[in-house]
Amino acid sequence: MPKPLIIITGKDGQLGFEFSQIKNQYSNQFDFLFTNRNDLDLMNEASIEAFIQQHQPKYFINCAAYTAVDKAEIEKDIAFAINATAPLIIAKTCASINCQFIHISTDYVFDGEKKAPYLPTDEINPLNVYGASKALGEKLSIENNPQSIIIRTSWVYSAHGKNFVKTMLKLMSERDEINVVEDQIGCPTNAADLADAIMQIVLKLNNDNAFKHSNIYHYSNTGNISWFQFAQAIKEIANLNCKVNPIPSAAYPTPSKRSNYSVMDTSYIADDFGVEIKDWKESLQSMISRL
Ligand SMILES: NC(=O)c1ccc[n+]([C@@H]2O[C@H](COP(=O)([O-])OP(=O)(O)OC[C@H]3O[C@@H](n4cnc5c(N)ncnc54)[C@H](OP(=O)(O)O)[C@@H]3O)[C@@H](O)[C@H]2O)c1
Repeated sequence: MPKPLIIITGKDGQLGFEFSQIKNQYSNQFDFLFTNRNDLDLMNEASIEAFIQQHQPKYFINCAAYTAVDKAEIEKDIAFAINATAPLIIAKTCASINCQFIHISTDYVFDGEKKAPYLPTDEINPLNVYGASKALGEKLSIENNPQSIIIRTSWVYSAHGKNFVKTMLKLMSERDEINVVEDQIGCPTNAADLADAIMQIVLKLNNDNAFKHSNIYHYSNTGNISWFQFAQAIKEIANLNCKVNPIPSAAYPTPSKRSNYSVMDTSYIADDFGVEIKDWKESLQSMISRL
């Protein structure tokens, strides 16, 4: 009997790449098909349904996204096509072949006014185009496939790809002093931990396909820190000498508005799927040691 197929998009991105690093742990139970833009272009609406119908996956994990937060302000149509229209088509097609759709979303759907960890049930109010495009992707996925699972994550980093940790390591090794924003609070997510968490979800659903899950879950590492504190920890772990100065967001203007509080409550994913939520600093340490 063929093994259930898991399709994973965004294979060259941070999260997609991490799945390719752990797939061998699951190769007795599942087949994997990893795609990038050349294999499956999420801008090409017509090709999405045909691709899914051709491969008949049991699970579809959408790690691909338009993630250029500032550029999205001027590329609104592209951001919405990739982050909202594509998930809609994937969700609908998955529903038609009884494939479990797992889609990744973001803390940027929230406006940061709450000042206590956001629950998956809290009201959303994105502050920028990227957040609005991801919010619409969530809504359309659930409307078109009530079995959809949306996992919101935040401040993602990985040994692979571009991210805050790698940018900081580079800047700190080149400069004597850098400035980092101290009034935006959130929680980092090691993409390797998130990939593990999603595989826990897949395993649970594969063992119990009648399991009643919610539509929206939150996953980040534990913690509640500013970008400045994150940078300080990177400096400390990597043993670098650069001076890190805390600055207010107002001193570092960006084209897109950012929330100043985006900590998420991760208890639902831990309770429903037994997912372990790792400490942010330990996870950071393990990523830096992989570089
Ligand atoms: N990074 C974060 O801090 C963060 C925070 C919260 C939530 N998230 C969410 O987490 C998920 C994973 O993010 P990530 O950090 O792994 O993102 P990433 O590193 O930017 O990877 C995204 C991937 O999507 C691919 N992609 C873009 N447009 C595509 C298209 N038209 N067709 C097919 N593939 C396309 C990109 O390919 P190219 O390289 O060819 O463009 C890239 O490989 C996303 O849903 C993101 O919104 C990320």
